[in-house]
Amino acid sequence: MSFRIQPTPPARPNRCQLFGPGSRPAIFEKMAASEADVINLDLEDSVGPDDKDAARRNIVEAIGDVDWGTKHLSVRINALDTPYWYRDVVDLLENASDRLDQIMIPKVGNAADLYAVDALASAVEAAKGRGKRIAFEVIIETAAGLSNVHEIAGATPRLQAMSLGAADYAASMGMATTGIGGTQESYYMLHEGQKYWGDPWHWVQTAIVAACRTHGVLPVDGPFGDFSDEEGFRAQAWRSATLGMVGKWAIHPKQVAVCNEVFTPSDAAVTEAREILEAMEKAKRDGQGAATYKGRLVDLASIRQAEVIVRQSEMIAAR
Ligand code: COA
Ligand code: MG
Repeated sequence: MSFRIQPTPPARPNRCQLFGPGSRPAIFEKMAASEADVINLDLEDSVGPDDKDAARRNIVEAIGDVDWGTKHLSVRINALDTPYWYRDVVDLLENASDRLDQIMIPKVGNAADLYAVDALASAVEAAKGRGKRIAFEVIIETAAGLSNVHEIAGATPRLQAMSLGAADYAASMGMATTGIGGTQESYYMLHEGQKYWGDPWHWVQTAIVAACRTHGVLPVDGPFGDFSDEEGFRAQAWRSATLGMVGKWAIHPKQVAVCNEVFTPSDAAVTEAREILEAMEKAKRDGQGAATYKGRLVDLASIRQAEVIVRQSEMIAAR
């Protein structure tokens, strides 16, 4: 193992990120009243070109006026290949109240993209004397983003979270799919006439998790488009949680409860984790490095796995 200690990510729950278009202010209060840990007000793809100015104004106003409680409040700006993004950053940081916690930068391709936004944000913050430094989150959703995921994860101390954007990622990679996340009918192995489906998102998700864990950033799964398919959403969320992601987006309020269900360690999981820690404490007192728990091996690595679950559950309880 490297002598470098793996950094811990921000200690806040990020089980569900609920999105809503900045051009639809009627839903802002409903978003604030939801059970999501993070709110993402959108200026990007859910807002048409003619609505960008009005959406910025709606969002700036709502950041100050709506009671967002203890939620982590983020605004998704437009990508760096558009004429909109600089105005998004300038308007938000000049005019929005300090209640704004974070901006989300889509389609990030390399560390220099974040350097550019950081430079602009730093200048506006200094000019306006803003007390709170804005945090960043990014979306990995292009071939370049995946190729440069490690340098992106380490690009700036402002970076707190990184999501997979499945639809734009699929388009950028030239994948023969149209669904937003989840099972893809055409991605199967055939054995004795029987189809077995694979997970086409596995590699990019694992790359994101590794980059995030190396740099102390929260790895998050992005959208699942078919909000009428609760079981499909749950299956995708469970795969993401199993791979090390801490949460998932909701693009409809229906999806919030399943996010919280999947990304909150169950009572049974927490009890088992605590029992494993106790078994290992006893082993240590007996001078052993390994022990038996329910007929299976537990050792020092089991302590680290169990601590992830206990820490997550304590953080959610303290929210
Ligand atoms: N957040 C909070 N509440 C929402 C909501 C959201 N994102 N989307 C819809 N609602 C509300 C509706 O206002 C409605 O409330 P009501 O019962 O008080 O009337 C209720 O939830 C049911 O909404 P429904 O009629 O099923 O959906 P819709 O047709 O109004 O909207 C979408 C569907 C998909 C257009 C909408 O959910 C949406 O814009 N989602 C986010 C899209 C987005 O931000 N994309 C960018 C990231 S990929
Ligand atoms: Mg996208």
